[in-house]
Amino acid sequence: MAFIDIDGIGKTFGAFQALTDIQLSIEACEFVTFLGPSGCGKTTMLRTIAGFITPDAGTITVEGRVLSQPGAALPPELRQMGMVFQNYAIWPHMSVFENVAFGLRIAHVADAEIKSRVARILEAVGLEGLARRHPGQLSGGQQQRVALARSLVVEPKILLLDEPLSNLDAKLRERMRVELKTLQRRTGITFIYVTHDQAEAMALSDRIVVFNQGRMQQQGSPRDIYEQPANLFVADFMGLVNRVSGEWCGPAQVRIGAHVLDVTSAAAIRIGAVTVAIRPEALLPVTTALEGQNLIEGVVRESVFLGNIVDLCVDIGGVELHVQADRWCTLAAGDPVRLAVEPAECVVMKNE
Ligand SMILES: Nc1ncnc2c1ncn2[C@@H]1O[C@H](COP(=O)(O)OP(=O)(O)O)[C@@H](O)[C@H]1O
Ligand SMILES: [Mg+2]
Repeated sequence: MAFIDIDGIGKTFGAFQALTDIQLSIEACEFVTFLGPSGCGKTTMLRTIAGFITPDAGTITVEGRVLSQPGAALPPELRQMGMVFQNYAIWPHMSVFENVAFGLRIAHVADAEIKSRVARILEAVGLEGLARRHPGQLSGGQQQRVALARSLVVEPKILLLDEPLSNLDAKLRERMRVELKTLQRRTGITFIYVTHDQAEAMALSDRIVVFNQGRMQQQGSPRDIYEQPANLFVADFMGLVNRVSGEWCGPAQVRIGAHVLDVTSAAAIRIGAVTVAIRPEALLPVTTALEGQNLIEGVVRESVFLGNIVDLCVDIGGVELHVQADRWCTLAAGDPVRLAVEPAECVVMKNE
């Protein structure tokens, strides 16, 4: 049995099916991220785990104890979980110290212990020296740290975070990513994190769970999800990808236009019409292909120097491929080009 078992969770709001058959096991100390576009059900799932939403179907079990089942749900305050929101939700009239101490005061922890625990956690989130300030005297990033400290000081077993960085500017967001990850490792608390930002999910997570329209699409390590997307939705959501229509024509081969590509047999879907997803950075302009690589001949239609990469649009006979070449590439519009691509980079999917 896993630390958290989510089994067959379903939730409707009126006639709207917000979650369908969510099935997920989470290990202790894991950093798991729910990733998907706005409205796909991430917050609903997180709030169901927290106990603010009672599901219509399924059970949620933590360490063998059932927290939620049809008709019976443990209230949020008895679940030993912390929650951090996008809009911080800290009290403007209280000092940083009092904001963080609040949960401990409610639990009647002794004053001396409150002092030492608050001091320790403020140091952990990089707010030492700011205990007497009020939220109005803090930056957005500092306010979010107060919210984090307040959730962590009560030592929850599980911390639920709903887009906690999305109100911060881009630079601060990247720095906070690193700090969150470090904090999670150091505390050993299980983090369940919600975001619509794939880069953020990749940077933080041990495991990503991709949602769309209330259903889980795929779960796996950031690398798995990026390199072996289970379907076209995941492939598209995880960033720029070429989608090429093709036809299954061999044990592990797909015909696209005049080209026959070797593909991974693991992805073998033995049916006629398929879509092949190829990442732009997996297509390499070469003079000769290596053993085992596919070689596709084409003509450069456009070439744009972007500094770190050169962006090419290559016509391979009626089909255009987007190619990200390294910055030394000097190919120009009209040049013939040969593109090498590993079979493992040609991910075959069912047409949807
Ligand atoms: N209390 C509610 N009543 C009706 N519809 C809701 C309610 N909460 C969420 N929804 C709907 O459920 C869907 C999923 O919402 P949500 O979980 O907030 O998405 P996300 O967090 O992925 O953006 C949305 O279409 C939303 O409008
Ligand atoms: Mg949300």
